[in-house]
Amino acid sequence: MIRLKKMQKLILANWKSNKSVEQAETWFAELERIGVGVGESFTIAVAPPFPLLPVVSEGASALGWKVAVQDLSSFPAGSYTGAVSAANLKGFSVAYAILGHSERRRYFHETPEDVARKVDQAVEAGIQPVVCVDESNVEAQAATLTQASAERCIVAYEPSGAIGTGDNVSVAQVKEFRARVEQLFGSVPLLYGGSVDEQNIAEYLLVTDGVLLGGASLEADQFARVLQSAQGASRAEV
Ligand code: PGA
Repeated sequence: MIRLKKMQKLILANWKSNKSVEQAETWFAELERIGVGVGESFTIAVAPPFPLLPVVSEGASALGWKVAVQDLSSFPAGSYTGAVSAANLKGFSVAYAILGHSERRRYFHETPEDVARKVDQAVEAGIQPVVCVDESNVEAQAATLTQASAERCIVAYEPSGAIGTGDNVSVAQVKEFRARVEQLFGSVPLLYGGSVDEQNIAEYLLVTDGVLLGGASLEADQFARVLQSAQGASRAEV
């Protein structure tokens, strides 16, 4: 199981259902050309749609980045048509699984019980679960996890009104939510997600263990600017 090093914060890029193989290749080529180095302060991970895992595994390893997935089957390998099990991911060095994203709950009707089973599948496969919650489901989600599973999660605070809207929540609200998460999950790493970009990443990094971002990760040049802002913030902190 991956544990973030004490000072290392996670920047997790969620491509959602965007990009073709060619676009993914171009994205990595562009980032290699720009040459963004974030040193020891950050772990960067990219979560592509499943069919792009080969391209992303290769591109991420060339940059020293990690690979993530956006979902995982709640069942093991077997007769579950259409599902992608942890066993199917062997060989792609998947480090993180984003689980229970609000879009999964909203459009695919995932329940806290489904997400809890996915967490167990991830933990068993040695993949770090990143469980997405907000005010509406944090208690129900924590209640379905065993204490042992809850303690192994990274929790992502993803207020659904802030996702893809530009309507990001205040840093004070993130801090307040962190206290709630600590009561329910224990002292787990906390990410913030919801309209994170190059303008606001620095302030969220001050009160979290990292960020989850969607829109601002899609264009290579914007993602490079996000990483540069993060790096500037970590230098300012020293
Ligand atoms: P956004 O998405 O950065 O586009 O708001 C965040 C997320 O869904 O995790």
